[in-house]
Amino acid sequence: MNNFDLSGQHAVITGGAQGLGFAMARRMVASGAGVTLWDMDGALLERARAELGPQARTVTVDVTDWAMVERATTETEAAGGPISIVVNSAGIAGPAAPLDTYDIATWKKIIDVNLHGTFHVCRAIVPGMKARNYGRIVNIASIAGKEGNPNASAYSASKAAVIGMTKSLGKELAAFDIAVNCITPATAETRILEQLTPEFIEYMRSRIPRGRFLEVEEAASMVAWLVSKENSFTTAAVFDLSGGRATY
Ligand SMILES: NC(=O)c1ccc[n+]([C@@H]2O[C@H](COP(=O)([O-])OP(=O)(O)OC[C@H]3O[C@@H](n4cnc5c(N)ncnc54)[C@H](O)[C@@H]3O)[C@@H](O)[C@H]2O)c1
Repeated sequence: MNNFDLSGQHAVITGGAQGLGFAMARRMVASGAGVTLWDMDGALLERARAELGPQARTVTVDVTDWAMVERATTETEAAGGPISIVVNSAGIAGPAAPLDTYDIATWKKIIDVNLHGTFHVCRAIVPGMKARNYGRIVNIASIAGKEGNPNASAYSASKAAVIGMTKSLGKELAAFDIAVNCITPATAETRILEQLTPEFIEYMRSRIPRGRFLEVEEAASMVAWLVSKENSFTTAAVFDLSGGRATY
């Protein structure tokens, strides 16, 4: 494993109790960072902290709740120092269904977690990054946000919106030493897939020219560079992790 030096950095990883976020936390701890995992699943957070060891802290937070995100920011910085890295990985897929029958409350929930949650976290953490003139933000979008998956319109729309928001924020902060980028993974085998049918999962696998799912460590590897000081120029960009599905 290549080592990007993250010593002295303090990373907040939302949705970090498991899946892609947890793999990124593990990689950052191995690279010398302190990490604070934000997740709404308190029991899983405890397990994650035990596995990561003394460099990890946790805060139970629902990213859809602005007041909670603000409190979590204050608490996190008081306990672990200024936040220099943010990975927005908290997200939900929601059930697969055609748009013309999609449950309206479920649609709004998916947008709320994936888009508004990412907005809340950036809104809370960016002022401190601006004041210190340093930050690295990575938003986890999805190949669905580029291509649009059938029967996943809310999810695809939320991830396309995260891509757009990343581009806006990256440009807003380009005069600072703050990089804001997003990644667009294809399917990785995490618990988020429990929200989907086997047929839908097979559809997504069949669309990946590599012929296999993404490994969470492969996503963590790309993010390790994106959140490092070495990424001093690239911002407002979209990094592909689709195994050849998207060629743009
Ligand atoms: N796994 C994939 O195939 C895949 C592909 C592309 C993009 N993504 C995206 O990657 C991110 C991580 O997905 P994953 O596969 O690791 O899923 P996961 O289900 O393993 O982890 C997501 C975590 O987010 C947390 N979470 C959900 N809603 C939350 C909320 N309101 N507040 C705080 N935490 C919340 C969950 O408790 C969970 O621990 C998501 O944004 C997902 O859309 C996943």
